[in-house]
Amino acid sequence: MVLEKSIDGSLLEQAHDLIVDVLEQGDAAVDATLGNGHDTLFLARCVGRAGKVFGFDVQQAAVGNTRKRLDDAGVDSDCYALFCESHVDMALHITTKVKAVMFNLGYLPGGDKKIITQAHSTVAALSAAIGSLSCGGILTVMCYPGHDGGADEADLVTNFVDELNKEHWTVARYSRAEARASTPYLWTILDVSQKKRPTPE
Ligand SMILES: C[S@@+](CC[C@H](N)C(=O)[O-])C[C@H]1O[C@@H](n2cnc3c(N)ncnc32)[C@H](O)[C@@H]1O
Repeated sequence: MVLEKSIDGSLLEQAHDLIVDVLEQGDAAVDATLGNGHDTLFLARCVGRAGKVFGFDVQQAAVGNTRKRLDDAGVDSDCYALFCESHVDMALHITTKVKAVMFNLGYLPGGDKKIITQAHSTVAALSAAIGSLSCGGILTVMCYPGHDGGADEADLVTNFVDELNKEHWTVARYSRAEARASTPYLWTILDVSQKKRPTPE
C-alpha cells in the first residue's frame, strides 16, 4: 500500500525532516542530483565529520557549485566525494552501504533547462540506489511532472514504486494540499524489512 499524504509546507523540507529521523552521525548518504548543493550540505551536516556523502551530477557547474557550498560551510573535503557522472553509475563509486539517498529530479536551477534528468536513466539509478541502502535506510524522490518530459519520468517512477515489495518498504507520496496533475510531489521509500521480521524467541 502507498500512503497518500497532503501537506501545507515545503516538500523538500518534508524530505529533510524524514531523513533527519533516519540519518546518524557517521552514516553514509548519497545526493543523486547535486544541482546547487543544498541537499548535499544538508546531508553532510546530518552525517557529520565521521560520515560521508557521495554526490552525482552530469554537469560540471553543479559539481562546482556544490563543492563551493560545502567549502564555504566548512565541510571537510574528506567527508564527501563528488562525481561529474550520471547517477546511473553510482554503484561504481559507492564503497559502502548508505542510509539515505536523495533524488531531486529536473534541471539545474539557474542553469540550462534542457539538461534534465531522463525517465529511463532515473529509474535505473533508483534501482541502484535501492540496492545500496542499508537496513532502515530511506530513499526520497522529488518529481516534477510539469517540466518537459517530467510527466513521463514521474509515471515511470510511479511504476517503479508500485512494484516495490511493500512488506520490505514503506512507501508514501506527499503532495501539496492544492496539488494539480502538473505540480511536484515527493516519494519517500523507507526500508522496514527488519521491523517486520519476527523477533526470535
Ligand atoms: C533540481 S536539480 C537538483 C537540486 C539539488 N539537489 C540542490 O539541492 O540544489 C537536478 C539536477 O539533476 C542533474 N542531473 C540531470 N541528469 C542527471 C543524471 N543522469 N545524473 C545525475 N544528475 C543529473 C541536473 O544537472 C541538475 O543539476
